[in-house]
Amino acid sequence: MHIIYIYFHFTCSRTPKRFAQPLIFPNSSFRMSARQGLRADSTHFTLDGAPFRILGGSIHYFRVPRAYWRDRLLKLKACGLNTLTTYVPWNLHEPERGVYLFQEELDLEAYIRLAGELGLWVILRPGPYICAEWDLGGLPSWLLQDKKMKLRTSYSGFTSAVNSYFDKLIPRITPLQYKNGGPIIAVQVENEYGSYAKDERYMSFIKEALLSRGISELLLTSDNNDGLKCGGVDGVLQTVNLQKLTFGDKPLMVMEYWSGWFDVWGEPHHVFPAPEMISIVRELLDRGISINFYMFHGGTSFGFMNGAVDLGTYKPQTSSYDYDAPLTESGDYTTKYHLLRSLLSTYSSMFLQSDDPVNMECLPANHNNGQSYGYTLYQTDIYSGGDLNSRNHVRDRALVFIDRELIGLKILMMDLLITNSQFVDYIRYLWIIMMLLSAVWTLILTAPIHCRGSNGEEVCNVIFLRMCSDEETNSPYSLNLFIFLRLQSQKWTSVGTKPTYPAFFRGSLVVDQPTDTFLKLPNWSKGVVFVNGQNLGRHWSVGPQKALYLPGPWLRSGDNEVNDCM
Ligand code: GLA
Repeated sequence: MHIIYIYFHFTCSRTPKRFAQPLIFPNSSFRMSARQGLRADSTHFTLDGAPFRILGGSIHYFRVPRAYWRDRLLKLKACGLNTLTTYVPWNLHEPERGVYLFQEELDLEAYIRLAGELGLWVILRPGPYICAEWDLGGLPSWLLQDKKMKLRTSYSGFTSAVNSYFDKLIPRITPLQYKNGGPIIAVQVENEYGSYAKDERYMSFIKEALLSRGISELLLTSDNNDGLKCGGVDGVLQTVNLQKLTFGDKPLMVMEYWSGWFDVWGEPHHVFPAPEMISIVRELLDRGISINFYMFHGGTSFGFMNGAVDLGTYKPQTSSYDYDAPLTESGDYTTKYHLLRSLLSTYSSMFLQSDDPVNMECLPANHNNGQSYGYTLYQTDIYSGGDLNSRNHVRDRALVFIDRELIGLKILMMDLLITNSQFVDYIRYLWIIMMLLSAVWTLILTAPIHCRGSNGEEVCNVIFLRMCSDEETNSPYSLNLFIFLRLQSQKWTSVGTKPTYPAFFRGSLVVDQPTDTFLKLPNWSKGVVFVNGQNLGRHWSVGPQKALYLPGPWLRSGDNEVNDCM
């Protein structure tokens, strides 16, 4: 059984023109009966033939502890959104060439399935380049071993790596597509390629790489204003990351409505005032435009995964990806959330807008066959007092609610029921990264690293990073793994009050009942913090980030090991 919501206005001269918005749940029988999927054949989207507006929100599974996926998705849904959008970070899923990770915190399929279970549609943005303030825009750094590498082009070294990755990724996604009974209604081809546009054959390659592996849902591109001209590819719907747009006879969609903005070290925290955001969103909605909030919940770029932007000056991004989004970094509600929810409640509950109520048999449901039975919710705004009288138009029983409170059961009356320096993720000439970064790496690999503990804690031996290698394979460890192993195996000894740097520190945090908290490191300059082996990210006294988010599920009752690498 599903409920259809109808929004209509009666006797109200101030009626804004509202856009039809069907509320169709992925888990409803309605979906299973027909598998046309999301279409963009006219000025509005249709899903199974019925008008559909995408009200999306971005939450990246890789920026939220798995234990909180459900909580964040439920909050997204409760805000009135019907679609989840997420990028897929290649560098996490294939950390070493040919080694693929899709489990635990990286269980993409579980994330998509969860969204479906909760009644959300999914738009997947598998890249392979994702930007997203993510290290190297999501591309694995091992690609840079090839000195001739040309990222995001049809250079064979790049395409063959994409092919191998997609061979593993796409088969996990195809069963979760709409036509196969899953929640994925659209898939994005690359990301803002128009702003880069180094190779006109590249976008077709990515598109074919998706199609040939069985992606059959609607394909989209997403571009910035400057990239719109070059970002498209034949047969793929263009969407845009700004507000003013026209695309002729195609549905309009703002693929990234920036709910706030990301922060970079040493500059003020970005804030996008809620009222400003709401008034633009209202305008977009009134114009019938589909929208995706980027971000709905930003979360955290845990570990070393925060990227950097370089538009002339290198600016590394913070570990916090709070984004001034409707949900805070730790998943709490904000004023923005509440205002948005209240605004969306007037739109997301709409199936269609009509000046007169439409009887259920005539609703554009079930391929325009109408609704035969079940419940229908009619809703309107009342601007002044008076008598409410259905004039005998209600043929069934109507439950009457005012501001969601049941005020009675009336017969014949109708009422209202009704963060090392991270890789750049955004730069115009991505291969410059190769020159810049290899220099940085050389320095890191030859610099002596002293390991010391802090105040009353313990220290490990002085070691040289270049000497660190896996004893069995004799191959050097990655910095991340190296730090982790070091922290685990060192003999720690106390140091005085003035340790020398760089150093590793160890301390402990005694917790009674694990719960979400933030770790503040006043007077500590710059470094990386691990708690029980989980890399919380980078800290830097220049701000604006002042504390690191420490999710409750990563803590345990009693002693918790805290390590800092400075
Ligand atoms: C662009 C990219 C996103 C993200 C935003 C800024 O639109 O597509 O990945 O980098 O900018 O947050």
